[in-house]
Amino acid sequence: MYREFAHLWQQISAPEDYTEEAAELREVMFDLLQGGPEPYRPKVLEMGVGGGNSLSHMTDFVDAVAADLSPEMLEISQRLNPSAEHVVGDMRTMRLDRTFDAVIVLDAISYMLTVDDLHSTFETARAHLEPGGVFIAGPDWLDGITPVPNLSCKLGKADELSYAEYVHDPHPADSQVELIFNFFIPQPDGSVSVEEDRHLHGIFPLETWLLTLREAGFESGTRRYNADVSGGSGYYITGVAI
Ligand SMILES: C[S@@+](CC[C@H](N)C(=O)[O-])C[C@H]1O[C@@H](n2cnc3c(N)ncnc32)[C@H](O)[C@@H]1O
Repeated sequence: MYREFAHLWQQISAPEDYTEEAAELREVMFDLLQGGPEPYRPKVLEMGVGGGNSLSHMTDFVDAVAADLSPEMLEISQRLNPSAEHVVGDMRTMRLDRTFDAVIVLDAISYMLTVDDLHSTFETARAHLEPGGVFIAGPDWLDGITPVPNLSCKLGKADELSYAEYVHDPHPADSQVELIFNFFIPQPDGSVSVEEDRHLHGIFPLETWLLTLREAGFESGTRRYNADVSGGSGYYITGVAI
């Protein structure tokens, strides 16, 4: 989805879908940052920015650097968020050799499939923060908290395509769930092409998140948000760099 089908992203996900989430995130971030010299515009690094929908609600009040593995997704975010600097980077390994007031990874953290992946991402965040700097992650899934709808299917229709999203947990004992997308894309000649895209997401217990974050040099905690409106697990995992 994030390379070959990146051009479809804005059909299945729009900035408006992230309005409530962004408002909740803003509140949590400013609360953890505990202010700063006025007028306070924190420097924020968002890793896994994707199409920049979340970021589009933040650029009014932060100075942002946006990173993603996919150059195609960065291009979409760059168009939506021209004031932000955009860089290609893997959240597990990237090093920009500068620090920020906050590092955030929202739904993209779900692409971390192992505890080692989580640990590497937290180390990346720590490397971009001074002591007191803030880290916020927004996982889609929390083992034992977020029910994984076994064999659930969601349908969506946008202007140029329809899609089905099928989520299942084939092996509940491991730390992964699978999402399968089918896109139905009308073609100029009247035919419809069908494309399949499979994703794996990581699912870990809350204690694993908190412990792994502590091991990477953070005081760890959680903040709740209203998942009924914004989707996701309803938990932000938060860290303050030690
Ligand atoms: C669901 S999209 C993010 C959407 C975004 N929240 C928005 O508002 O548009 C997930 C993104 O995570 C990125 N991603 C996955 N693994 C990554 C990694 N290891 N490092 C950086 N980005 C990654 C994908 O390329 C994709 O753009």
